[in-house]
Amino acid sequence: MEVLVTGGAGYIGSHVVRELMKTPYDIVVIDNLQKGHREAVLAGEFYRCDLADRQKLDEIFSDHDIGAVIHLAADSLVGESMENPQKYYQNNLTAGLNLLEIMLEHNVMKMVFSSTAAVYGSPDNIPIEESDTAKPASPYGRSKLFYEEILADFDNAYGLGFVSLRYFNACGADYEAGIGEDHDPETHLIPLVLKTALRQRDKLKIFGTDYKTRDGTCIRDYIHVSDLARAHILALEKLEEEGESSIYNLGSGDGFSVKEVIEAAREVTGREIEAEPAERRPGDPPVLIASSEKIRKELGWEREYKDLKNIIETAWRWHSSNPEGYGESKTGKEI
Ligand code: UFG
Repeated sequence: MEVLVTGGAGYIGSHVVRELMKTPYDIVVIDNLQKGHREAVLAGEFYRCDLADRQKLDEIFSDHDIGAVIHLAADSLVGESMENPQKYYQNNLTAGLNLLEIMLEHNVMKMVFSSTAAVYGSPDNIPIEESDTAKPASPYGRSKLFYEEILADFDNAYGLGFVSLRYFNACGADYEAGIGEDHDPETHLIPLVLKTALRQRDKLKIFGTDYKTRDGTCIRDYIHVSDLARAHILALEKLEEEGESSIYNLGSGDGFSVKEVIEAAREVTGREIEAEPAERRPGDPPVLIASSEKIRKELGWEREYKDLKNIIETAWRWHSSNPEGYGESKTGKEI
């Protein structure tokens, strides 16, 4: 069976492709390379294609015998979505709907969807369970929640099977495979901490030190990107067994504060990492920790990376051996 990965050149997508290489599935990747890197795609047939381009999408689906789609292509920054919601609704919803239409036209009825903890907004219960109310606080979170609802409607009406994975804080790298995290601009905590350790940046800003948490800084649930990626394979297998559509959190069940992450990174790198208190970043919930009991019970998902320092070390190995990230070549099969 061929599996189409949209956004397969991105940070998480490239790790999903890497995990797919360990399975018998054949891989087809599409990415518009606005954020992704061609070099990060280690296998499969690659197409540079935007989901807005229905004609190209149709040609790709005609040329391949696609049995399932892993849909990651999306914009994913909370702050940017507050300033430019139109971009988020356009790319994550309108373009995402194109993909669903083409899937239906080609009778491709299985999707693994890349969702987010941002659907929960500032949750009342910690750890967050899938049955807790989703109250997204940003256009980004809303675009992902709406898409999940569209998937549920498509399941009811057309029998489209889906698994939606609500990611918490993906981090780390499969440095042995030569892939890692390279965003421009970088906004995520762990790569910024490591770039500070590498002296590529000055001081790290700690966004808010007066939250009601154990040390005043925000707490997040950090999960290794390869563990996250492996869950997509389990989700595909569930869909192949014609299981019911479902939604799963993907986190560790444990949380670390910004200060704890910086301290762990100091220990891992053995370097000084200068950090200073700064204003709160708008839209940051104080604590986000997932319960991942459901996916453990139902799909048998287990983490391989359980120790934060171990996770940071994988990211450190990648950043220190690729200080400039990926190169800039933007090639792909144009059709
Ligand atoms: N932080 C800093 N300084 C920085 C960068 C981040 O203090 O320079 C803090 C943030 O305020 C936050 C924590 O570090 O408290 C983690 O921030 P990230 O930007 O790494 O991650 P977020 O939790 O904000 O975002 C992640 C994903 C989003 C997703 C969101 C869901 O990256 O795509 O979780 O809530 F939407």
